[in-house]
Amino acid sequence: MISLHDFETQQIVVNPILQSEHGGTFVTPPNSEYVIEAAQYPGVLGRGFAPPLSEFNEKFRGAVTYWKFDREAGRIDESKSFSIELPPYSQDLSDAGKLVSDGWSFTNSFCAERYVGGIESGRPPFEAGCSQGDTDFLHVINWRKAAEVYEAGKVTMINDHPVIMMDTAVEEGGLVYLIAEPKSPHGVDVSPDGKFIVIGGKLDTQASVYSFEKIMAAIDASDFEGTDPYGIPIISMEKALHTQVPLGLGPLHNQFDSKECVVYTSLYVDSQVAKWDYCEGKVLDKISIHYNIGHLVAMEGESVNPAGKYLISLNKLAIDRFNPPVGPLHPQNHQLIDISGDKMELLYDMPVPLGEPPHYATAIAAEKLQPLVRYRYGTNSRTGGKHPPGAVRPGQERIERDGDHVKVYMTAIRSHFTPEIVEVNEGDTVEFIITNSERAEDETHGFSVSTFDVNLSLEPGKTATAKIVADKPGVFSFYCTEFCSALHLEMTGYLVVKPEGYVEEASAAVSEGQSYTKEDYDKQMTTNLETQAVIDSVVAYITSHNYQDFPEVVALVEDAVDQLNFATEARTKAEELAAAEDWQNATLWAGQWWQYQVKAADIGLRAKTFLDENGAVKAE
Ligand code: CUA
Repeated sequence: MISLHDFETQQIVVNPILQSEHGGTFVTPPNSEYVIEAAQYPGVLGRGFAPPLSEFNEKFRGAVTYWKFDREAGRIDESKSFSIELPPYSQDLSDAGKLVSDGWSFTNSFCAERYVGGIESGRPPFEAGCSQGDTDFLHVINWRKAAEVYEAGKVTMINDHPVIMMDTAVEEGGLVYLIAEPKSPHGVDVSPDGKFIVIGGKLDTQASVYSFEKIMAAIDASDFEGTDPYGIPIISMEKALHTQVPLGLGPLHNQFDSKECVVYTSLYVDSQVAKWDYCEGKVLDKISIHYNIGHLVAMEGESVNPAGKYLISLNKLAIDRFNPPVGPLHPQNHQLIDISGDKMELLYDMPVPLGEPPHYATAIAAEKLQPLVRYRYGTNSRTGGKHPPGAVRPGQERIERDGDHVKVYMTAIRSHFTPEIVEVNEGDTVEFIITNSERAEDETHGFSVSTFDVNLSLEPGKTATAKIVADKPGVFSFYCTEFCSALHLEMTGYLVVKPEGYVEEASAAVSEGQSYTKEDYDKQMTTNLETQAVIDSVVAYITSHNYQDFPEVVALVEDAVDQLNFATEARTKAEELAAAEDWQNATLWAGQWWQYQVKAADIGLRAKTFLDENGAVKAE
C-alpha cells in the first residue's frame, strides 16, 4: 500500500498461498472494498511441493485473492481477506465489474493447455505448449457471492488463509464461470458503464468485446457448453461475445476515453495505438509509436468517468529513438498523445531509465490528491503515525546507551545535525533516530554514514531510523545527502568507533583548529548587526501586508521565526562568552548566529517575493 498523501510505501503484504502473481492494482468500485490479486504461474497452494511433470493437473492450482481494504486505516486487512482456488490455467490480469456488473470480477489466463515444459529433457518448451490452443479461459467470478461463502465459513485454511476450494465453489454454484477467449490474452478491461469487457489476445489480431448482459443471460438460463475438468461451468464464447474487431498485431491493453464507446488499445507487434468503437465494432484511427508499446494510460481511463484528453504510450523499447545511446540498456520511451480530436496526435517523448517501464499505470487528476506539504512533526512515514519514543525537538537531542545498544536521538536542520560527534565501541549496535526539524516546504535533508550502507531521505517533519552494527573500528563521516543550503557540505559529523581495548588519554584536549581573537569577534558582530537590519526590513514588509491570507507565506514565516529563535540563542551564547573574554567560542557562536540569520533572511525573501507575485496588499 502506497499512501497518496506522501507517496511512501506503508504496507507490504505477502500472499500466503501464491508463489507468483501478475502485478496490477485492481480494486472493486466504488470504494475499493477489495484489491484483486491473481496467481500468475500455477503452484501448490501454500507454496507446497509436488512434482510438476506427474502431478500438475491434480496438485497445481491457480487462485484469485480478494484482499480486504480498510479505508479508515488505509491498509489491507489480511484477517478479512480470502481466496478462491482456480484451475492451473496461469491466471493473469483482472478487472472488477462496475455499475451494472458491480459485484463481479474478470480474470484472464494464458495457459489453459496446462502445459509443463522441460526443454532440458527434450520436451517442447513452455512457450510452445502454452500457445498451442486457439483459446484460453476468461474467469468470471461473483466476488460478492464468494465473500458470503467465505463469511459462512465454507473455506479451507491454507497457511492460516481462508480459501474457497473449487469443489465448494462448484457445489455452491454461481461463483465461478469460464468463457473461451482468444489465446494468450493480456488486459481484460471493463467499460466505464460496466456493460462490456474488452480483451486483447496477444496472439490474435482481434480485440474481443464480451457483453455482461449476455453472460448473465447464459448464467440465468443455465445455458452452458459443459464443464471443464474441474467441474466449472463453461459459457459459450459465441453467446457471450458482443463483437470482435480486427485491430492489428499484438493487442495488449485497453484504456477508455471520455467519449462514449471509445477505447484505445496498444498493439505491441505493430507498435501502434488503435482508437476504436467497442459498441459499433469499428476502428476509428491508428497512430504509430516508437516502439513496442506495452501498457498505456488514459486520464482516469479505467474509472466510470474517464477524463479523456491525453494518453500515454508506455513503450517497452526505444531502439534508436534516443541518441547517443547510453550503453546496452537503452532507455524506455513514454510518449504523450493528444486524444482530444478525431485523430490522435503525438506531442512529446520522454525517455525513462531502467528496464520495463511502469506496468499498469493509473492517472488521477491532481486536484483529487491531497498530498502533504510537510509531515506533522515526528512522523514515521512507514506507519503514518508518531515515531514511538524517537522524535525529538531541538534541545532534546541525546545519546543513550543500554549495554552495547546505543540510541542517537538526532535532529537535522539547515545545516547541521545535533549531535555531531557520536562515540561508540566496536561491536555496538547504533540506532540513529533522526528528525528533520525544518518546517519549510521542500527542505529535505539526507543522512548517510560512510561505509555503513545507510542513506535516509528526511523530508520536513519526518523521523527516520537507521540501525547499524559498528563492526569495524575507525572514524566514519556521516553527512547530509541533499543539497539543502549553501552550507550543505558542512552538514556533517563523525561516528567514532573505538577499537576494542582502546583507552582514552585523560589529558587529551579538544583540538581547536583556527584560533580567533577579539578582533574576529567584533568583525563578525558588525556583520550580524547589519544583517539584522536587512531582516528587520523584510519582516516589516511582510507584517505590513496581509500575509496571513496566504497559507504558503504563513508557513514560511513560521519557519523564519523558528530560525530567528535559534539565532537569539546563539547570540546570547556569543555575548556571554565575549563577556568572559573567551574570544574563540564567542566568535564561533557569533558565526552560528549569522548562519541562522542568513537562513531566516532567505526564507523571508522567499515570502516577500511570494507576496509581491500574488498581489498582496498593505494591511489595514
Ligand atoms: Cu542538509 Cu544538505
